[in-house]
Amino acid sequence: MENRTELTLKIDHLNVSIKTENGLIKPVNDISLEIPRGKVVGIVGESGCGKSMTARAVMGLLPPATKIEGGSILLDGNELTGHSEEQLCGVRGSEVSMIFQEPMTSLNPVMKVGRQVDEVIRVHQKVPLAEARKMTIEMFRAVGISEPEERYECYPHQLSGGLRQRVMIAMAMIMKPSLLIADEPTTALDVTVEAQILRLMKELNKSGTSILLISHNLGVIAQVCDYVYVMYAGQFVEEADVFALFDQPLHPYTKGLLGAVTSLRREEAVLETIHGVVPDFSELPDGCGFAARCEKCMERCSALMPRMAETEPGHRVRCHLYSA
Ligand SMILES: Nc1ncnc2c1ncn2[C@@H]1O[C@H](COP(=O)(O)OP(=O)(O)OP(=O)(O)O)[C@@H](O)[C@H]1O
Ligand SMILES: [Mg+2]
Repeated sequence: MENRTELTLKIDHLNVSIKTENGLIKPVNDISLEIPRGKVVGIVGESGCGKSMTARAVMGLLPPATKIEGGSILLDGNELTGHSEEQLCGVRGSEVSMIFQEPMTSLNPVMKVGRQVDEVIRVHQKVPLAEARKMTIEMFRAVGISEPEERYECYPHQLSGGLRQRVMIAMAMIMKPSLLIADEPTTALDVTVEAQILRLMKELNKSGTSILLISHNLGVIAQVCDYVYVMYAGQFVEEADVFALFDQPLHPYTKGLLGAVTSLRREEAVLETIHGVVPDFSELPDGCGFAARCEKCMERCSALMPRMAETEPGHRVRCHLYSA
């Protein structure tokens, strides 16, 4: 927190590989991303495109058989790749923390939720239990948990999905990290609770926390993010300011994602879909990963990987339609 750089997070040409039965795959392929301090940045893309793997790389929580093959991850100006597990433990929770899609899998079912948050405090700070309890209850109140003293004594199963997610957010925010990573934080919640949680994230952001929000849902991204990266088959294919992305999507994949959002207008009642499925990572073509599903596909598309090109300041796209 002391080291205040202009960018909270700067990922440069990050590559992550996994050894599988079908050979080496690259779920994170040459990813570069920046989160300016105090901003909310989104990653959107279909299931399996590498969103969580990117987040896990930042947290130093990659699964076994996975390897960072190259690139750099700067958090507040400090390089995280190459950190030992012990160094990463010091960073996790205090400088960067993450909330997951399903809080039930991340909370300890046999421990009172209040105590679980106390533990996070006591891992990073030498404070007496009574002091930690006070801090936890204050944080519960800050994230909109009513009757925080009573909730402190509850076990996870005694709380609703929305309250459990608030506990997770309290746990993630308790050390006031520079960066909060939220990986599909509202996917398991109904829409009213989703709206409350998104509002809460906006409030946390206003109080100074930079946020990386991961979702397959463009509606969620539109509500909270300042800037968006569109991910497809391990790569970013488009990135832009949220308004530019929704007003003028460039990549055929982004256009497809936007077309797949349900429209309430009667004349547009037919829901468009992107035909085909995300390709298997072990069978990616040499060229653009989207080529086989793309209506605009040209000869060079499946042979040659397009490069990221800037069409307007801050709006970049990886597509041969826009390369000079
Ligand atoms: N433990 C693992 N072992 C082998 N391959 C994995 C493992 N976890 C993920 N993968 C591969 O990495 C790819 C990216 O996975 P990732 O979890 O990052 O996708 P995602 O974009 O977060 O998808 P979702 O929207 O479903 O959460 C997957 O398609 C899968 O092929
Ligand atoms: Mg995921």
